[in-house]
This record gives sequence, structure tokens and C-alpha cells, in this order.
Amino acid sequence: MLTAAQVQRFHDEGFLVLPDFVATDMCLELRDRAMMLAEKLVPSPEQATIFTADTEAKHAVDKYFLESGDKIRCFFEKDAFDSNGALRSQAHLSLNKLGHAMHDLDPVFDSFSRTPDMQAVATDIGMNDPLLLQSMYIFKQPRIGGEVNCHTDHTYLWTEPASVIGFWVAIDDATTENGCMWALPGGHRIPVKTRSRLNDERTATITDVLDPTPYPTEGLVPLEAPRGTLVLLHGTLPHLSGPNTSDKPRHAYTVHAIDGTCDYPSNNWLQRPSLPLRGF
Ligand code: FE2
Repeated sequence: MLTAAQVQRFHDEGFLVLPDFVATDMCLELRDRAMMLAEKLVPSPEQATIFTADTEAKHAVDKYFLESGDKIRCFFEKDAFDSNGALRSQAHLSLNKLGHAMHDLDPVFDSFSRTPDMQAVATDIGMNDPLLLQSMYIFKQPRIGGEVNCHTDHTYLWTEPASVIGFWVAIDDATTENGCMWALPGGHRIPVKTRSRLNDERTATITDVLDPTPYPTEGLVPLEAPRGTLVLLHGTLPHLSGPNTSDKPRHAYTVHAIDGTCDYPSNNWLQRPSLPLRGF
């Protein structure tokens, strides 16, 4: 699937941008499907107000997130709520993302996520036993789509040794105007600075700081990606995305795969008690 030069570039830079990997019709089908799921699954505006509460409802919010590993759940944008905690717009148009098992629970995303082409890419970049751990449909809504701070995916989807790879698909054109990703070429060789994991009570996540210095902010490059582009992200690559201040949506679908030959800690936030891991 990939040329030797592409594989080399992935290992050198920690990411690889593959335009035209997915047909436009397929992107539009995924887009429609995600909108349908959002309308069907979104909490009511009354239930949604809980997500703005930062005090007494915190436990319920943490639980909603921590139990989403084997479900399809809806996560709101912070800026979707006014100062009284009420949604400013329709609930399904206020979502940050759907997550985290749509690749297992929704037949359209299941078959899209598991193709010979995706398997071939995983094999080409050296995954021995790729297993699809997590999926997200990210809306990055016009004007309210929030930024994602610089992080590595290994921080959240830890394995021993590190193995997570992101398969990120541009469903809409992603540009610097609507909050495309930015990445640090070669930054996957920097030792990962934090690990997020469950606390001992398994009620919330906490962060172990392995190195208190921040990732470099110089040298990040924008990963502009027309619709249908597949972006591969090494799990230890620092990356971020800006807010979407434009009038254009920036939908994306991402699957994170880990290598089944690596250990998966029992105190990772993402647990899937009802769903065995499957490959591509
Ligand atoms: Fe990420």
C-alpha cells in the first residue's frame, strides 16, 4: 500500500499525510451517518446542562466519560453553553465529538474502519497485530469548535511498549482557518512527558508527570488535509489542533489502533469490558 519512501517518512517524521485515501462519496456517507447518530444519541438540552457543572455533577460527568470505551457517547463543546449553562444552539450541533467504540457498534463505521487498505497501511508501518482500540467522530463545529492542546496519544492510550497509531481521516477539508492539526516533525523521538491513568478508586483520571518541561512550541507544521486524506500519527508524536473560528465545519474521523503484542495496563482510562478487541 505504501511506498518504501512513505514508510521511511513516517518513521523519520512521526506522521504521514496520504491525500485521496478515501473517496468523497464515502466521506459524505460517514458524515451523514455521524449526523444521524448525533441526533439520535445526543442528550436532551435539560440533561446537557449537567455537562457544564464543574462541581457537584463532576462525578457523573467523569463516569459518563470513563464508561464510554465500549459505547457511542456524545461529548459537548465547552463554548456550546451560555453563562447559565443552557445550550446556545441545537444539541446535536453543539457536540465536540462522538466516542469511543463506533468502529465496533455502528455497522457503517465498523466496515469503514476495517478494510484491506487500512490493514495494509498498518502492516507497512510495522504493526504486528493491530487491534482497533478506540474511535472518535470529531465535529470541530463552526465558531465553537475548541482547540486541542499539544499532546501525544500514547499519554492516554498507553501500552508497554508504546504502540498506539492514529488513523485520522479528513471528512471535511481541514485548513489552518478551520482548525487543522499541527505536528512536530520528528517529535515522536522525544520521551513522552505525561501519562494519564485512572486514580486508585477508578473514579477519575489523573496525570503522572514524567518530565515537567513542555513540548517544544517551535517547529510545529500544519497538517492541512483535503477531504478524503488519511493522516497517520505515531503515538508519541506531539500534535495539537487550533480552534475553529471559521464558518466552516471541520469533521474528522479517527481510529486508534494498538499492537496486540504489547501490554495494555488495567489502569488506562479506556476499558472495554463488553467488547473484545478486533483487528482491521
Ligand atoms: Fe491526539
